[in-house]
Amino acid sequence: MSRFMKARVAAVDQLSSSVRRLTLVPADEASPFTPFSPGSHVVLGIPGEGRVCRNAYSLISPPDDPSQYCIAVRRQPVSRGGSEAIHSRVKVGDELELSPPANLFLPHWQARHHLMLAGGIGITPFLSYLPELERRGASWELHLRSQDLDVARFPEAAPYLASGNITQHRLERPNLKALLARQPAGTHVYLCGPQAMIDAVKDAARELHWSLARIHHEVFAAPEPGTPFMAVARGSGVEVAVGAQESLLEALERSGVEVTSLCRGGVCGQCRVEMLEGEAEHRDAFLDEQERASQRCVMPCVSRARSQRLVLDL
Ligand code: FES
Repeated sequence: MSRFMKARVAAVDQLSSSVRRLTLVPADEASPFTPFSPGSHVVLGIPGEGRVCRNAYSLISPPDDPSQYCIAVRRQPVSRGGSEAIHSRVKVGDELELSPPANLFLPHWQARHHLMLAGGIGITPFLSYLPELERRGASWELHLRSQDLDVARFPEAAPYLASGNITQHRLERPNLKALLARQPAGTHVYLCGPQAMIDAVKDAARELHWSLARIHHEVFAAPEPGTPFMAVARGSGVEVAVGAQESLLEALERSGVEVTSLCRGGVCGQCRVEMLEGEAEHRDAFLDEQERASQRCVMPCVSRARSQRLVLDL
């Protein structure tokens, strides 16, 4: 992910005590934004102390309107810098790094019915689904479980609130098995939220003998902090100290070593790097058990080192 452009913050809106919505516009008229597909995300780079913190965020604005991109960000109790900066420092007029949109969570258009289940800020990818589902005349319903985030606070949800297709669950947990059981054959289910919610839906689907091929999920995982270590990109002749708050990928990028990336959350497999020496602490959801045990590759967007030094084939 090296094709970053500049975006200017055009508006900052507080949607709840812990969620902010940013409206971004092109900083350079010669580099306009492009339309994107529903479920797309962008990577936002926010300058911090001696480094740029880069995280992926779902686009929530209508996909066919490239005049602006909107994202919504929850303030994380433990932040490496990105969410905290958005909530405390980022202001209208700031210029931030922005990647082009990429998509790992496209709806399955052939579905007879689309059932979207969101936990809290997990509503974000679905807000860009709604205009296209409506345009296609598709059958859909959206459930949000959140105590403090009100779906009606999102301007993107406003055109659909009267449809009766959106249900907000506050204190009560939806009965997942009952919800799935009343779906028509050919329904596809989309999940975005905590892992426990995803596991619960899959368990309910198994009990009802659903094919898990009809269950799709996006896990919005950001890299977690960890113990500092040294990384060596042998082919590039670069040695870099990876700080406690930055990811291995961010440290490599800071040193000018290019690594392909897409999700920056350990799920897409794009950033896979071969390891020549050292022991990785695997934190991704992409490698299988055999690959992890072999200690021959690592996903630098989320994984770190168990040893003091990792030597990479870069
Ligand atoms: S960028 Fe997707 S797994 Fe690392």
